[in-house]
Amino acid sequence: MKTILTGIRANSVLTLGNYLGALLPMVRLANKYSDNDEYQVNIFVPDLHSIISEVDGDLQENIIRTLKYWLAAGLSVGQNVHTYRQSYVPAHSELCWILNCTATMGETSRMTQFKEKSEGRDSVNVGIFDYPILMAADILLYSAEYVPIGEDQFQHIELARNLAMRFNHKYGEVFTVPVSTAEQVKFMGVSEGIRIRDLLTPEKKMSKSTAAAGSKIMLDDNPEVAAKKIMSATTDSFGKVKFDMWAQPGISNLLLIEALVTDTPLQTVISTWAGETRYGELKKKVAASVSQMLSEFQERLAKISDEEVFLLLGMGEDYANEVASAKLLEVQKVVHLR
Ligand code: TYM
Repeated sequence: MKTILTGIRANSVLTLGNYLGALLPMVRLANKYSDNDEYQVNIFVPDLHSIISEVDGDLQENIIRTLKYWLAAGLSVGQNVHTYRQSYVPAHSELCWILNCTATMGETSRMTQFKEKSEGRDSVNVGIFDYPILMAADILLYSAEYVPIGEDQFQHIELARNLAMRFNHKYGEVFTVPVSTAEQVKFMGVSEGIRIRDLLTPEKKMSKSTAAAGSKIMLDDNPEVAAKKIMSATTDSFGKVKFDMWAQPGISNLLLIEALVTDTPLQTVISTWAGETRYGELKKKVAASVSQMLSEFQERLAKISDEEVFLLLGMGEDYANEVASAKLLEVQKVVHLR
């Protein structure tokens, strides 16, 4: 069976960027493929990745809420879909250590996220530096070929591929190498990596950690408030709708959001709006689509109980420990730890 795997950190309430870049594409893939016995789907909460930085609120509550997001986004958990918490599967940390001994300081220091997260700080914890190696372990333990993620994580997928190939070259074919990011994009059914932009500064990605409330839509935003944020989004002075992320990032971001929220091909949305001179009309449409999506999502979320989540985690963690320990043992043997 081929494995499709992804994780979303539970450091706070998630943004529309997380939802459109990772949650929704993964749910669509899971529902498309998990009924057929060729694929299995692993969805996990990388809680060890959470503690590299401050957690907003209570981590345990955030973890349960994040798992509920998957269900509210439409994930149907069946026989081939597994959910688990990373720290409940100790093999992740153990493989991370072994991979640390394969990775180089140079390649890890080149990671853009490491540079961004450490910029301007006097002291940076080692976890931030080691973060992509733990992520590689998350993927390689389950022989995952497909890892649906947003564009900001592409560099980490390439690193995981390099580590797997280097390890295999030295020790034999132990790891399945995930497909390249170009292939990941194809598998996700999009034309390029998804990067939802900050609503006020569309040159940047939408991020949980940006302070200005108007710059991001959170999944617990009141739908009317979210609509107002769209109406106040920064655009440009060209006065004509055109999809061009470099020249018109604000307008292009709105077109992309509209396409993803309404599950319409981006090209169709682009041709519907191309040449429109009243930006307000486009904003009104996107605001309505986002607020409708949020109300339906929040309604479903309210109906999911903690018990339901714990039941799924119990089953998922048994499965994950079995698969991950078997792969870890294989690795330990080839490096002569066993
Ligand atoms: P995290 O928790 O920062 O983000 C979770 C997912 O959301 C995507 N994302 C976005 N996509 C589009 N536009 C945005 N503005 C946006 N912001 C976030 C991210 O690309 C990601 O897919 N290291 C990972 C978690 C992780 C993981 C893994 C993922 C740990 N181990 C193994 C896949 C496989 C992270 O911090 O994502």
